[in-house]
Amino acid sequence: MQKGEDIKSCNPSDLLCVRKLCVWHPIRKFLTVSGYIRALDDVSFDLERGRILAIVGESGSGKTTLGKTILKIHQPTKGRIIYDGKDITFIKGKEIKWYRRELGYVQQDPYGALPPFMNIRQILEEPLIIHGIKKSERIYKVREVLEEVKLIPVEDFINKYPHMLSGGQQQRVVIARALILRPKLIVADEPVSMLDASVRIEILTLFRELQKKYNLSIMYITHDLSTTKYFSDKIAVMYAGHIVEMAQTYKVLSKPLHPYTQSLIKAIPDPDPRNRTLFREIPPGEPPSLLNPPPGCRFHPRCPYAMDICRREEPPVIEVDGTHTVKCWLYG
Ligand SMILES: Nc1ncnc2c1ncn2[C@@H]1O[C@H](COP(=O)(O)OP(=O)(O)OP(=O)(O)O)[C@@H](O)[C@H]1O
Ligand SMILES: [Mg+2]
Repeated sequence: MQKGEDIKSCNPSDLLCVRKLCVWHPIRKFLTVSGYIRALDDVSFDLERGRILAIVGESGSGKTTLGKTILKIHQPTKGRIIYDGKDITFIKGKEIKWYRRELGYVQQDPYGALPPFMNIRQILEEPLIIHGIKKSERIYKVREVLEEVKLIPVEDFINKYPHMLSGGQQQRVVIARALILRPKLIVADEPVSMLDASVRIEILTLFRELQKKYNLSIMYITHDLSTTKYFSDKIAVMYAGHIVEMAQTYKVLSKPLHPYTQSLIKAIPDPDPRNRTLFREIPPGEPPSLLNPPPGCRFHPRCPYAMDICRREEPPVIEVDGTHTVKCWLYG
């Protein structure tokens, strides 16, 4: 069965419903457009309230483009984004301001995300000022959020500048800034990939606690499938601008259907010394050019099971087992 892509298939109780989203970046030569990088093509998914959806895939698969399109930093070329029952695909002006207040953004690189010339209080006050929160309330909110991200005692941190903090503390400030307007949805783009392994777990645990406390929905963008087991409820696997598989985390990790997901799972490093090999299995070959993607299934040049139809026709999204979907002719 092919999954319905119409916005009529959106469930009004979901926080986010994305249908057939395309983002094509134009390649400009002088005044003309010579081609398009098809960073996202026909991407559809739902995100329930209070749930965490992990977006995983190799470098260049379109994860950040997807996050930035949901944040309205990139404009969709085609498709629809329904947020809290409202079509926000083409909103402008005051509506964008309202929408941005509903969302928080945690960037990949805490060093680059925090302005070096502002102290922590100024960094955290900035979104409150933009959204017209009174001065008397602002300092209370700054202190409250610093306590929530466990930068305590607050006096030790509030007047410091980002370079005076460790990477983990800086990422706590980034999370505090994302939370300070009490958003309903957080886009977290590789929130822990720049941090040491021990700090990573600390930050993800903190994030999980805050997510539960505020019933947040989170888009957790990562290339590290191993963290999804502890952190996400659902996984969407991206390959070359497409979602190729999507299901609850335990289903994707225990019974991956797409050959690409299978090879990603085999590539997760195993800490058990008995299973240690220098190079675990990684998908052979390179992802395709998004300027001129291959016909048929975009994974077929790397797929050990490629059939004739895979070279000719793009596979549909197939619902295999209830909510487990896969874009692959092996299940067609
Ligand atoms: N503003 C842009 N203009 C043109 N091409 C872009 C732009 N932003 C991203 N791209 C291209 O879109 C494709 C997807 O990039 P994106 O950054 O979304 O991938 P990613 O999955 O986040 O990768 P990574 O894991 O390295 O962060 C890449 O081919 C990238 O070069
Ligand atoms: Mg990225």
